[in-house]
Amino acid sequence: MTEDDLIVLEDVRKIYQMGEERVHALAGVSITFKKGDFWAIMGPSGSGKSTMMNLIGCLDRPTSGNYRLNNHDVSQLNDDQLSNIRLQNIGFIFQSFNLIPQLTVLENIELPMFYQDLPPEHCTEKATEMAKMVGLGSRLKHRPSELSGGQQQRVAIARSLVNDPPLILADEPTGNLDTATGDQILNLLIDQNQQGKTVIIITHERDVAAHAKHNLHMRDGIIDRTETNGI
Ligand SMILES: Nc1ncnc2c1ncn2[C@@H]1O[C@H](COP(=O)(O)OP(=O)(O)O)[C@@H](O)[C@H]1O
Ligand SMILES: [Mg+2]
Repeated sequence: MTEDDLIVLEDVRKIYQMGEERVHALAGVSITFKKGDFWAIMGPSGSGKSTMMNLIGCLDRPTSGNYRLNNHDVSQLNDDQLSNIRLQNIGFIFQSFNLIPQLTVLENIELPMFYQDLPPEHCTEKATEMAKMVGLGSRLKHRPSELSGGQQQRVAIARSLVNDPPLILADEPTGNLDTATGDQILNLLIDQNQQGKTVIIITHERDVAAHAKHNLHMRDGIIDRTETNGI
């Protein structure tokens, strides 16, 4: 374990009990992601990609094995401790955007700051700045239903970045978007990585994965192989 290791998984397993059946969603995964890295996770549907990302993102706990995030053992923490870690360290982007339909663009972006006891003016200012950064400065009062898919995903990216997390996790962020729109989203993530953030993205698309420094291929709950791209 060295100082620039951000994520260290050691023999991590996740078993889901479905009635009589036990699903080994992760069947012993060991891998280290370093600070500032850019990884794409690939693999067939059902191979354990989202399960792994949810564990890395502290949305869930492993059945067994160790997980160290930034040198802290997070495999044993309780729900409150995990949500604190998430708020401070991790920005999430999902295929389905996960915006709150009743809230405006600005309010959606402000959400992660609500639990931080910050002055409201600061939150509005910071959220406006993030909206501008993703090209939505003129859509602050719109609701998600009044935006295109690509615009909604850009709101989700602004929201994921508003607390300035060192780690960005994106589960098929371009999966619901056309190619041109998907490219815009990918470019935002590439920018973030160039600014020093660690980015992990799940994708089915080879050309998306080719932009990541490292690729990891999952198969049946294990890591099939990893490779490093010459970029
Ligand atoms: N909450 C859950 N309860 C039961 N089984 C699950 C759950 N989440 C995922 N699984 C199962 O675990 C396996 C891995 O799923 P997942 O990590 O979502 O794969 P991927 O993201 O690669 O498509 C699949 O067999 C899936 O059906
Ligand atoms: Mg998935």
